[in-house]
Amino acid sequence: MEKTILITGGAGFIGSHVVRLMVNKYPDYRIVNLDALTYAGNLENLKEIENAPNYAFIKADIADEKKIREIFAEYKPDGIIHLAAESHVDRSISDPLAFVKANVIGTVNLLNAARDLWGNNLSGKRFYHISTDEVYGSLGATGFFTEDTAYDPRSPYSASKASSDHMVRAWYHTYNLPVVISNCSNNYGPNQFPEKLIPLAINNIKHKRDIPIYGKGENVRDWLYVEDHAAAIDLIFHEGQLGETYNIGGNNEWTNIDLIRKLCEVMDEALGREKGESAELITFVKDRAGHDKRYAIDSEKLMKELGWKPSLQFEEGIVKTVEWYLNNEEWLNNVISGDYTDYYSTQYDNR
Ligand code: NAD
Ligand code: TYD
Repeated sequence: MEKTILITGGAGFIGSHVVRLMVNKYPDYRIVNLDALTYAGNLENLKEIENAPNYAFIKADIADEKKIREIFAEYKPDGIIHLAAESHVDRSISDPLAFVKANVIGTVNLLNAARDLWGNNLSGKRFYHISTDEVYGSLGATGFFTEDTAYDPRSPYSASKASSDHMVRAWYHTYNLPVVISNCSNNYGPNQFPEKLIPLAINNIKHKRDIPIYGKGENVRDWLYVEDHAAAIDLIFHEGQLGETYNIGGNNEWTNIDLIRKLCEVMDEALGREKGESAELITFVKDRAGHDKRYAIDSEKLMKELGWKPSLQFEEGIVKTVEWYLNNEEWLNNVISGDYTDYYSTQYDNR
């Protein structure tokens, strides 16, 4: 094998798309997927490549310092693509400490382990940290987040991600660790856990359950198809400049209510329901605490410097996403069994 790439969080939503892409595209790389398999981690996501000769899986918690050092000593990764994180804002509101442990302590453990392993032997080495646009805070009606926008996180999730971004930059400046960071907008597509807006709504529409919309549904998000994020990660990992940050976005802003109305149309069509039937399930519920109003990314740097652009229009991506969820009933039934029911009732009953 030419080199070993350690991907953390590879059993999750975005991570599984990145692992699949790297295993298939780079047969000469050994791809090691390190994941704790929390509620969000699912090896079913990786069925197509689980027996590939260049793939290995390790179950481990990035917050476990000793274990992380042992794994680095054994596998000696040349590159790290770090996606493992607690990722849901609502869960961060009810359990912020879990986010500090995974996202802050976990990232510092990986940074320390990379530094110890690589020492001054930095040729060909790279620590790539995957982050979110939420670190920049909340926009008003106009403007975009650029790489120079000041950090202003407002939820425990975004504060923990901002903190991890700062740690990564500190290791670059203080210890010369070869790092690169990207901050992406909201992803959608196959394999997303149905706690996030789009798959939660797909699942509820399928079961003719209310679709909970926080507040008035006027908050705006910029949606990017997950495979376009994975392609950007591949590009930045190979061609991004060390010490730099790249914003990744879909240039695709929707208010939550318009997005859900569009999704309802696609679902009516896919399920052979009367036009307008699914939209009757829309229910406005109590707003999220500290709910960021608008996110919108300016991806010009990534497009100009590295030549990336999204491949899919939203109209196409949302149809593909709905088709995937409807064609993968077993996947969906497995993830909504057990703990999901408890999560759903704690989060939404009596809201
Ligand atoms: P996800 O919740 O679907 O998956 C996270 C994965 O990390 C899971 O497989 C989980 O088991 C694993 N994990 C969690 N804690 C861990 C720990 N302590 N040790 C080892 N593994 C652990 O998340 P996602 O949506 O795929 O997001 C992946 C990354 O991308 C995160 O860093 C997130 O902040 C970032 N991101 C997500 C979005 C989005 O829209 N989903 C947008 C921008 C950035
Ligand atoms: P989410 O998918 O949780 O992503 P994020 O909070 O990281 O942007 O939520 C997307 C938007 O949808 C956000 O404005 C909150 C809103 N939302 C609802 O209105 N209802 C829901 O049940 C969920 C989960 C989210």
